[in-house]
Amino acid sequence: MPVQIKSACRLVNTTFIMCGIFAYCSYLTERDRGYVCELLCNALARMEYRGYDSAGIGIDGDSPTDPYILFKEVGKVSALRKHVAGGIPTPAPGNEANALTTPVDMKKLFVSQTSMAHTRWATHGVPCSLNCHPHVSDPLTEFSVVHNGIITNFKELKLVLQKRGYVFRTDTDTECVAILCKYVYESQPNKRLNFQTLIKTVLKELEGSFAFVFKSVHFPDEIIAARRGSPLLIGVKSERKLKVDFVDVELQDDKQIPVPEAVDGQGLLAVPANGTAAPGSNLRRQQSRAFLSEDGMPQPIEFFVASDPAAIVEHTKKVLYLEDDDIAHIADGQLHIHRLRRDDGLSSVRAIETLEIELAEIMKGQYAHFMQKEIYEQPESVVNTMRGRVNFDNNTVTLGGLKAYLPVIRRGRRLLFVACGTSYHSCIAARPVFEELTEIPVAVELASDFLDRRTPVFRDDVAIFVSQSGETADTILAMRYCLERGALCLGVVNVVGSTLSRETHSGIHINAGPEIGVASTKAYTSQYIALIMMAVQLASDSMSKAARRAEIIAGLHDIPGQIKTILTMDKEIQQLATTFAKQNSLLIMGRGYQFATCLEGALKIKELCYMHSEGILAGELKHGPLALVDEHLPIIFIMTKDSLYPKVQSALQQVIARNGKPIVFITEGEEAPADVKTVVVPKTTDCLQGLLNVIPLQLLSYHIAVQRGVDVDFPRNLAKSVTTE
Ligand code: AGP
Repeated sequence: MPVQIKSACRLVNTTFIMCGIFAYCSYLTERDRGYVCELLCNALARMEYRGYDSAGIGIDGDSPTDPYILFKEVGKVSALRKHVAGGIPTPAPGNEANALTTPVDMKKLFVSQTSMAHTRWATHGVPCSLNCHPHVSDPLTEFSVVHNGIITNFKELKLVLQKRGYVFRTDTDTECVAILCKYVYESQPNKRLNFQTLIKTVLKELEGSFAFVFKSVHFPDEIIAARRGSPLLIGVKSERKLKVDFVDVELQDDKQIPVPEAVDGQGLLAVPANGTAAPGSNLRRQQSRAFLSEDGMPQPIEFFVASDPAAIVEHTKKVLYLEDDDIAHIADGQLHIHRLRRDDGLSSVRAIETLEIELAEIMKGQYAHFMQKEIYEQPESVVNTMRGRVNFDNNTVTLGGLKAYLPVIRRGRRLLFVACGTSYHSCIAARPVFEELTEIPVAVELASDFLDRRTPVFRDDVAIFVSQSGETADTILAMRYCLERGALCLGVVNVVGSTLSRETHSGIHINAGPEIGVASTKAYTSQYIALIMMAVQLASDSMSKAARRAEIIAGLHDIPGQIKTILTMDKEIQQLATTFAKQNSLLIMGRGYQFATCLEGALKIKELCYMHSEGILAGELKHGPLALVDEHLPIIFIMTKDSLYPKVQSALQQVIARNGKPIVFITEGEEAPADVKTVVVPKTTDCLQGLLNVIPLQLLSYHIAVQRGVDVDFPRNLAKSVTTE
């Protein structure tokens, strides 16, 4: 057995933000090089919203066994496109002396080809061409790889490989994976390992989390994709209808794999010197049923591997999601799925699903920014969240996924909400309604803090994980923590097929559609509504709550129209933004249901306007924040009418008495406080008012950001999907 190299630092430096991976394999489908480059760059552009600092592509040389051609660029995909248009590739590290000085032939035709692309968010080494993916094993690019995630034992692997004479040229953890492939390959005297067995051997040595695509000049026209902890899906496009809508998982007999042996006491795997019979060669003869043709003749087909459906949807809607430890091998127009380990209880097939997002949904359309588009989509996205679930005629809510679990949830000792950022705020917003309607104790936890405290969790807890992406690592880790302790785990997730939606017992998809702007907007309102619906459904067995349920459902009915009305106030809000654009700070105060609105508004201002902002519970004012108040401090007061109105009024008076000049959000029909500027918001029932109040704050943060010249969709230091450990 291989002696695993244990990383001394496996628990440190494990913060990373997700990169974007894409690979394209065309089989018996004639494509020229220019087409392939364009397709790769387009795919990267679709994933831009994830946040990145550099981008690169790798394409076939003039013959598939020629070195790989690389184009890498720091900055935006548009810069990479320019580089590609110039046609002079980036030399492979170590091959600078032989760098091409004339453009590569973009008209060169390929009957079959494999290529890959990557947007990088630096974790190891600064953003520069050398650290950009694809990474290669050597100047002749024998093995190339794109990677999302972190290899926590890369330093140890690097050390051992360096001792064996391998040269490292970048600062990345990924390079050691490419070099490890070469090492395993070269350790085979007869070079008889097939590609998937070779990669399996490599993967077994890696610690950390990853999604990879591998390619090698030794295995022309083949690609391997593998994942552990980072999402990866494969799109399939074929003229002919697939025979079945699943792909079999091929469970190789592990006895056939050469048993790597520890050597030199260093623990790095080594393959027996006598060379082992090529294992798995029988596997290539097996065909997945999905790809069998009637007559057994090869058929044209294209495969698209990506970390994000946004990169695939314009080519095909037929996709399958890889599971952790899946190894997908694409060769000869076939897709084979293998497992890193046998007998781990997972399903023996991977379903080919139909993606339900349209590319148009992902694109900006008439809007200047994705964020603006997403704010404006809210009248429809909230309808989509309620569609088929809320019956406005008989005042009922039916969330199919929860139906079977209702008795268990009602018997639960506690409802434990766990989330991060905006998703956490939606839990804060919904907490009072859960307490009121279910009368079950509710705890709302920030996922990171929940994990830090090793919070006690019990079998009769009901844990609810809220996440737009479904890929936020803290939330995923918290979910796994609760699963281990036997709690019922439910997900409230936007991205279908995401880790959270797959690993929870059940849950709700919020159906807000793809959210591309890093700042979450429509996901917040949809999460909020999904949670309210959940509370209403849970209380459906209580007669005493019938009137309240009916009131909430009637409120939900009017929300889309009221959001539309607020959006007509955009010019007014834009004007208001000019009064804040030059400020350094903004406090947003409110109470009760509006505390979440204050927190969410302040988060939007912080992340988009690079300006200090705090959401302050008005009840806490005299316990500290009041000391900040003077005539200069910008303040927004959320004073829409509910049972706490008199208390917020009194807080407002305290601020005014200290020369504060707040701008006050009031509800339609209310009398405006004397001498203050107001923003008038339509009125709904108290627990839904936050859905409306947050929209002017979203618009305000958007306009301040534009006026301050911030890259609205890609605020600095942030990415859409964040994984922190
Ligand atoms: C908010 O605008 C941010 N994008 C951020 O706070 C986000 O809500 C948080 O990272 C959680 O993401 P998730 O909903 O995808 O889990």
